[in-house]
This record gives sequence, C-alpha cells and structure tokens, in this order.
Amino acid sequence: MSYKFLNNTVLITKSYIDSYVKSGQVVLDATVGNGNDTALLAEKVGSNGKVYGFDIQEHAIQKTKDLLNRFNFLERVELIKDSHENIQKYIPCKLDFIIYNLGYLPGGNKSIITKASSTIKSIHESLELLNNNGLLLINSYIGHENGLKEKNAVENMLKSLNQKKFNVLKNTFINQKNHPPILYIVEKSSDL
Ligand SMILES: C[S@@+](CC[C@H](N)C(=O)[O-])C[C@H]1O[C@@H](n2cnc3c(N)ncnc32)[C@H](O)[C@@H]1O
Repeated sequence: MSYKFLNNTVLITKSYIDSYVKSGQVVLDATVGNGNDTALLAEKVGSNGKVYGFDIQEHAIQKTKDLLNRFNFLERVELIKDSHENIQKYIPCKLDFIIYNLGYLPGGNKSIITKASSTIKSIHESLELLNNNGLLLINSYIGHENGLKEKNAVENMLKSLNQKKFNVLKNTFINQKNHPPILYIVEKSSDL
C-alpha cells in the first residue's frame, strides 16, 4: 500500500503539527518515546518557544535527548522522566498544543504501556492547562493488550466533555482491517 496523505494517523498528526504549531508557542509532548514528535514540535516552536516532554522510561528520554541534540534543539525542550499524570507539578504556564501517543515504545519494551487511569488523569490536567483555541491530539492504538480498554476509557471521557467548552473530533480508517489507530482532536473554546 502506498498513500501520500492518508497513510496513517502519525502522518495526519504531523500535518496538524505543521499547520497549527507556530514559533514562540509553548507545547507538550506527553509521551516522547523515540522523540519524533518532540523534535518536530521543537522545530516548529523555534528558539523562542518551548516544548515540555514526558516519559516514564529513561531509555525514551535518552533517545529523545540524542535526537534533539542532533538538531541543536535541546535548549528549547524540557524533558521530564515522570508520569504525565503529574504534569501540573512541572508546567507552570498555559499550553498551545498537546500531544499523546498512547501504547508502548516502538522497538522498546512492549510491556511498558500507557494505562487508562493515568492517561485519563493526565488528559484532565492537560485540558486545564490548554489555552483557549489550543489543540490536544491523542493517538490511540487498540491492537495490543489493554489498548482497547484504554481507548474506551479515553473515548468515554472525551464524550462527556461539555461541548460549550470543548469540541472533540474522532478520526479513524473505517475500511482498514487489523485494528486501525484512532486520532482524537480536542479544541478548547474561547468562550470560557
Ligand atoms: C507510543 S510511544 C510514544 C511514541 C513517540 N511519540 C515517538 O514519536 O516515538 C508511548 C510512550 O509512552 C510512554 N509512557 C507510558 N506510560 C507513561 C506515563 N504514564 N507517562 C508518560 N509516558 C508514558 C512509554 O514509555 C512510551 O515511550
């Protein structure tokens, strides 16, 4: 299969980052993993912006650090080795853009995964920190154990958000076999 625009939710996520994230913004990568989204975010916010990045694995933090170093982006990124359920302990300001990639680290230990209860707690905290008209993206993978449970918990929580405060879009591939991923996009209203 060879697609240019609708290949997978990772590519769609990148196009949102490309068109939404601007120089000088403060943004959050809640699951840095191998650092690919973190590096793209760092490029987009520029030297006067800031990226916060969380992961519970030292291995992920180190891989992300190495990648950022290669592009000279380390100064604009604060990497935190802690669960994203504690983001309010570390982030003292509002955020323009937030991303979550749920599941396990690609190429890493598949038993270390995001979990429904901490993910939900973290998303609640993130939504509070999100600026008006800020975007929060969540990539959810349901092909692995616990993925479906987490996706259901996330979706139920997002469904319950007051539409006067948040609009939520669900994107998925409806003709793909083998549990295609789901990309949720949340915008915070400016009428708060
Ligand atoms: C799908 S990977 C992220 C991929 C990443 N976006 C990339 O570009 O490579 C999910 C990551 O979430 C991390 N993770 C799991 N539970 C976490 C938690 N409670 N807080 C922060 N990160 C967590 C895992 O260690 C893993 O690295």
